Amino acid sequence: MITALVPGSFDPPTNGHVDVISRCASIFDRVVVAVVANPSKQPMFTIEERSALLEASCPWDNVEVAGFDGLLVDFAAAVGASVVVKGLRAMTDFDYEIQLSQMNRHLSGIVTMFVATKPEWGYISSSLVKEVSALGGSVDELVPAVVAQALAERNQA
Ligand code: PNS
Repeated sequence: MITALVPGSFDPPTNGHVDVISRCASIFDRVVVAVVANPSKQPMFTIEERSALLEASCPWDNVEVAGFDGLLVDFAAAVGASVVVKGLRAMTDFDYEIQLSQMNRHLSGIVTMFVATKPEWGYISSSLVKEVSALGGSVDELVPAVVAQALAERNQA
């Protein structure tokens, strides 16, 4: 049985994230979506909120959502994951992701695989979604409905 880890900040989850997770669900036996508790940037949503949004957006039976703190490679070992999967939008993602993947390989030997984001989601990022939503633009076509609702509520608060 192969368990894949799909890690990220998911602040908030976008259609691009969900697309990558859905394709992992159809390839791997078990998928653990790993939500980092303390991302480098101060998150808009708490770890509990980001995890709940992902759970509501990922209905596949072989997908589970879990929060983690500390090194990704340690969390991968704890859940029995043998592969890390990340989505790639553009070369700018590649420059960053190749560095992370090589560091993780150095630390534990774990394999990282990259999934090319669907072209229709190639321009979406969590940061841009938050900015557009905060300025009154519609993000309904860019994120799951539960996320659009959560953003609208956060921006009204
Ligand atoms: O959504 P992001 O910001 O691309 O996710 C980055 C993430 C969470 C995958 C990365 O920052 C990470 O793995 N953090 C955990 C701490 C860690 O293991 N750092 C060393 C990575 S080489």
